Parts: sequence; structure tokens; C-alpha cells
Amino acid sequence: MKQSKYTAKQPDAQGYINYSAQEDAVWAELYQRQWPIIQNRACDAYLRGLELLELSTHKVPQCAEVSSRLREFTGWQVVPVAALISFEEFFALLAEKKFPAASFIRTREDMDYLPEPDIFHEIFGHCPLLTDTTYANFMHEYGKIGHGASAKDKVYLARLFWFTIEFGLLQQANKLSIYGAGILSSQEETIYALESDVPLRKPFEIIDVLRTPYRYDIKQQTYFVIQSFDELYQLTQHDLLGIIAEVKPLGLYPAQHAGEAASDKLKGC
Ligand code: CO
Repeated sequence: MKQSKYTAKQPDAQGYINYSAQEDAVWAELYQRQWPIIQNRACDAYLRGLELLELSTHKVPQCAEVSSRLREFTGWQVVPVAALISFEEFFALLAEKKFPAASFIRTREDMDYLPEPDIFHEIFGHCPLLTDTTYANFMHEYGKIGHGASAKDKVYLARLFWFTIEFGLLQQANKLSIYGAGILSSQEETIYALESDVPLRKPFEIIDVLRTPYRYDIKQQTYFVIQSFDELYQLTQHDLLGIIAEVKPLGLYPAQHAGEAASDKLKGC
């Protein structure tokens, strides 16, 4: 697995991270260019959450400040971590309603794309929906299931995360919308996910999702469309690990491209 060229920024004793003026300027530019294009594309719950969080538009928000808002709504927190963490650590944090956030911000050379999560992806992409009760409950139940799951089952659970929390689409009353953080933090993919005729957009079906390989280094070939966040929450109230056990002998679908990268770490989440 490729090493990140970025290093995590360490919070001080009060949990604050020092970002330079240059880093704040990167945040401001990313925010300003993403905000207008998500208006008619992000799902309503995301746009509501973005408003509730009152994120700074001109400097990198502090995880501690975002957490104090999130706590009011759903009891979640966002905690700074190294750029890439193990499945073990990832699920343990989610089980405690702590969302792990890579703390560095991309440099100017990587404005359009980087294959790993940065603080813009984590906060702008993920945090608004953590204000939504059903979505937040799904994430918590998912974390608890993952925390107790075997290493092999965690890989299947990561695939579910990929096609929902990272790259999911939601059918709203009269239009298809985006809720996946991997899409909403990417200028190009926000438009591509809804408007390109290249990718497949399939109804969400858990067996199908668990069998679909993914790539983190290109725009997605397949998106799964849910009807509501309750559809995700309900998955956690049934025997999700039992479904995974049924899927394992079926194997993955053939990859459309070079195939899912083998990795024991979570990328892009
Ligand atoms: Co992510």
C-alpha cells in the first residue's frame, strides 16, 4: 500500500490544531467552489446539516468546535487521527460515536483530487449528515457491528461503507440526490455522479453491494441508490453479519477495471 505523502497534524492539549494561513486559504477556496455546485445536488438532510454546523468558510474548522455542535444534535464527535487508520481503530471509534478525521489539508497541487481523505473531505463531506438522527444512528450501529466483527467481515463492512457513506445516492421525492461524502467533497464527482451517462446507478440491494469491488483511485463506475436513511438503519437491525456469511461463498463480481485494490486499511473514508 502506498504511503501517504501527508503527515497528520497533532492537536495541542486543548485539542486544537494549528493551521497556517496558506492551509486556511486552501479550505476557503475548496469551500467556495464546492458550495454552489452542491446546492441542487446534495440531499436535503445534508444541506440542512451544513447550515446547522455553521462551518467557517474562510479557515479550517477545529474538530473540537464541530464536535460541540454535533453533540447537541446527535451526540457524535469528530476526532483528529492519522491520515490512514486500521479497520480495528476505525470501527472502535465509530462504536463510541466518534468519527475519525484525517487532520491534514491537501496542498494547492492536489486541489482537484487526492486518493486519501483530508480534513476538507472529513468535515465538509462527512459531518453535515452526522446531524441527522437516522443517519447518525445507522453509523453508530454499523460501528458497533464492525467493532465486534472478524477481520474478514470487516472487509465486507468496509465495502458497505464505501457504497453508502462515501459514494451513496439518495432518491428524494422528485429527484436523485447525493449523500456520499466522497462525492460531496469532490468538485468533479459531484457533477459526474448525477449527470454523467458513464456510471451505473443501481437500486440499493445489500447482496449486490457486498459483492461489488470498488476503486478509490478513479471516479466510481457504480453508484447504489437508497430510498431513505431508514433503509440503511434497518440493515443494522437485522442480521447483517449473517448476510455477509451468505455472500462470502458467492464471491465478488468481476471488476470492471483493474480490480479492487487489496488493502487492510481503510482508504478514502
Ligand atoms: Co470519507
